[in-house]
Amino acid sequence: MKYGAHRLDHLQESIIRSITRYGIEKGAVLLAQGFPDFDPPEEVLAAAERALRQGLNQYAPTWGLPELRKAIAEKSSRFYGQKIDPDREITVTCGVTEAIFAAVLGIVNPGERVIVFEPAHEQFYPSIVFAGAVPVWIPLRPPEFRFDNDQLEAAFKSGVKAIILNSPHNPSGRVFTSQELSFIARLCSEYNAVAVCDEIYEHLVYDGRTHIPLATLPGMVDRTITICGFGKTFAITGWRLGYAIASESLTNVLRKVHDFTTVCAPTPLQAAMVTALNMPDSYYDSLREFYLTRRNRMIRTLRDSGFECQPPEGAYYVMADFRALGRGDNDLKFAYWLIDQIGVATVPGSSFFASNSSLGRGFIRFAFPKRDETLGIVEERLSRLRSDHL
Ligand SMILES: Cc1ncc(COP(=O)(O)O)c(C=O)c1O
Repeated sequence: MKYGAHRLDHLQESIIRSITRYGIEKGAVLLAQGFPDFDPPEEVLAAAERALRQGLNQYAPTWGLPELRKAIAEKSSRFYGQKIDPDREITVTCGVTEAIFAAVLGIVNPGERVIVFEPAHEQFYPSIVFAGAVPVWIPLRPPEFRFDNDQLEAAFKSGVKAIILNSPHNPSGRVFTSQELSFIARLCSEYNAVAVCDEIYEHLVYDGRTHIPLATLPGMVDRTITICGFGKTFAITGWRLGYAIASESLTNVLRKVHDFTTVCAPTPLQAAMVTALNMPDSYYDSLREFYLTRRNRMIRTLRDSGFECQPPEGAYYVMADFRALGRGDNDLKFAYWLIDQIGVATVPGSSFFASNSSLGRGFIRFAFPKRDETLGIVEERLSRLRSDHL
C-alpha cells in the first residue's frame, strides 16, 4: 500500500545530499554540498557557549530574540541604508530554507503561478509544490547565465503571484546587475507580483561588484520578502539560522507558517548571532578576500585540469564544463565517475534544472568553501585527469 501524499509524487531525494553520502562512502573530497570545512570565528563560538551556560536554553520569542532582530535592523541600515522595524518586519527562522517555505506557503494559493529561474537551488521547487502552486521556469542559459527579457515579461504577463530570485546566484555565480534588477522590479510592480529574494550570499561578491537588495529599488519595499542567512557568512550552516525581512502585512503571513511549523529558531544560537552581526567591517572585507583567493585557485585548478569555466561573480560555486575532457556530456555519469576514479564529489549540472535538464548537461558544480589543505588535495587529484592511463 502506498501511504505517501500525492503532493510528494514529483519530489526526489536531493541529489546533493545523496551524492554527498556516496562521496563520504568512497572517501572522496566533498565539494558537492556548499558548506565550509573550517570552524566559525572564535568569538561566535564563545558567544554560543556563553549563551548555553547562561540559561538561554528554552523557547525564544517566536519571531526571534528582540536583541537579534535589533541587530538585523542595524545591519540592514549599515549595509544597505534600509530602515527596518525590528518588531514588525523581521522574523528569525531556522535557516534560509525555512524562510523560503514560510514565504511561499504564506503568500501563494494552490494553482497560482510562481516564476523561478533555472538553474535553481533545490529548495525552491518543493516550496512551490507544497503550496500546491505551479512553477514557471525561466532559463538562465550557460555559459552567461542571463535571462531573456521578453521571455520573462511574457511569463509575468500570463499572470503570476510571485517570483523567487536568488542573487548572488547558486549555482551559476551570477550577481544580478542593477539593470537586471530594475527590469524585474518594473515587472513586479506592473503585474502586481511579490518578490521572494534569497540573498544568502549577500556578502560574497567579487571583483568590485556590489550586492543590491531588490527591496531597495523604487516600488519594491512593500512587495519584497528579503531572506538572508547566517550559515554561509559565519561558517555555521549546521546551526540552521536565517531571517526574513518584509513589510508588516507580508511578515504577518509568513510568521503564521513559521509559528506553527517551528515555534522558534534555536535560542542560544540566536544570541550568538548578535555577536556575529556586531563584528566590524574588517570581518566582511577579509571574508570576501578569503573566498576570492579560493575562487581564483579553484578556477586555475579547473582550467589546468581541462575544464572550461568562468570565474563566478559571487557566492562560492563554480559551474564547470567538462566536455573538453572527452568523457561525453552525461553529467550524472561523469559526477559518479569523478568520485570513483578521482576521489572528488561534485553536483551534476542537470540537477539544478527542472524543466530543461539538457541545459545542465556537460556541467558539474564545484563548491570551494574549503581549507587550503583540502583545495591542495583537490588540485593533486584533479591533475590526474590529464593522465593517459585513466
Ligand atoms: C541559494 C541558497 N539558498 C538557501 C540555502 C540553504 O540555506 P540554509 O542552510 O540557511 O537553510 C542554500 C544552501 O546552500 C543556498 O545555496
